[in-house]
Amino acid sequence: MAATPTSGERHRCRICAGSVRECLDLGSQPVSNTYPKNVSESAVPRFRLAIGVCTTCAMVQQTEQVPAQSMYGAEYPFRTSTSALMSDHFHTTARDIVSKLSGISDPFFVEIGCNDGTLLGRVAGAGIRHLGVDPAGDAAETAVRGGARVMVDYFGETSAKAVRARHGTADVVYSANTISHIGAIDEVFRGLDVLLSRDGAFVVEDRYLADIIEGTYFDQIYDEHIYLFSVRSVSNLASLFGFEVVDAERLGTHGGSMRYTISRRGGRAASPAVAAALALEDRRGLDDPDTYVRFGQRVENTRAELVGLLRDLRTRGASVVGYGATSKSATVLNYCGIGPDLLPFVCDSTPGKQGRLTPGSWIPIRPPEAFVPYPDYALLFAWNHAEEIMSKERAFSEGGGHWITYVPEVRVTSPSR
Ligand code: TYD
Ligand code: ZN
Repeated sequence: MAATPTSGERHRCRICAGSVRECLDLGSQPVSNTYPKNVSESAVPRFRLAIGVCTTCAMVQQTEQVPAQSMYGAEYPFRTSTSALMSDHFHTTARDIVSKLSGISDPFFVEIGCNDGTLLGRVAGAGIRHLGVDPAGDAAETAVRGGARVMVDYFGETSAKAVRARHGTADVVYSANTISHIGAIDEVFRGLDVLLSRDGAFVVEDRYLADIIEGTYFDQIYDEHIYLFSVRSVSNLASLFGFEVVDAERLGTHGGSMRYTISRRGGRAASPAVAAALALEDRRGLDDPDTYVRFGQRVENTRAELVGLLRDLRTRGASVVGYGATSKSATVLNYCGIGPDLLPFVCDSTPGKQGRLTPGSWIPIRPPEAFVPYPDYALLFAWNHAEEIMSKERAFSEGGGHWITYVPEVRVTSPSR
């Protein structure tokens, strides 16, 4: 198992049927968002996690088939609202959307992957006609309780036709951290073609490839993230379906994201931000497989340092626990071979994860209350919420505790007393 270049094997692009050169292999990995109650290999399917870059459309994508279990069924545990940072982000975004839509008579807003309605509830609260489309039934129930209207389904041509027949065309279709999870992403664009009004905007937010590479965020690579988007690859994708990227706005969420505004081709003038982002992506070599080979070398260094540090702490008798049973942590734990011998438990605030085990590495997940009595060290898997968590757990570092982070490289904080 090595994060080095693989054989450079060729695969067929999921987007354009061009040639994808595999350039990074993170070995055998479990499905990330499945938290079994007992050690149960059969409950957590495994697959080989590898990515490659398409030589035609530049889309960075997983090269292997991800186990086709229903990743987003009723029990999908992720909840947007568990993070104050993300709640704030979506509340601000909802305010912007409402203000943009206020110039349109009787606007209609659709959110693909509305989860618990953190954003959609705000749009609904402003009295705007709206609909969420999300297959995760339990999360959608929360959204409905919060006053939003939701259709529990996958978004695609068929569901879009049903929505259009009932509500008419949509002025804005919005989706955050969702469409990169959909292997058959052509379905999304076919649905969009049915549903979006002539001048409508498709607004998509997702983790940004340039930031992933720069920050060595190798843990952003896991089963659900079938695609790692860049402005170049999203532009190429959109153009296959008669759309174009007309704006690209950097966001701070998830360690670095991009918000793409996509419209029907010729519908709007492109902002200069699009050309600027494309130029940056060229300078960073995002289409060049060698970029990923160098990335893989940095990932290997991180693994060696992190495992070395944890072993050293164990030898010295220091206590270490994990913080945040993120999806991302599945890649870190399984790639590095970290189990309960090095990390006895991980704290997490999500009720649906507590009392269960991390997939494949079988580390117990406990509520944040289990963080007390404080360990000597805490390995922060939810690094995208570092500020929020470190401030919430200030007493840990004030009492002499050290945080361990591993992106962009392995670091140990000094206690703040
Ligand atoms: P998330 O940011 O969604 O990352 P990923 O996409 O990799 O799953 O997950 C954050 C996790 O951290 C989530 O399981 C909740 C947990 N968490 C806490 O335990 N305490 C906190 O204060 C915050 C903000 C998150
Ligand atoms: Zn392609």
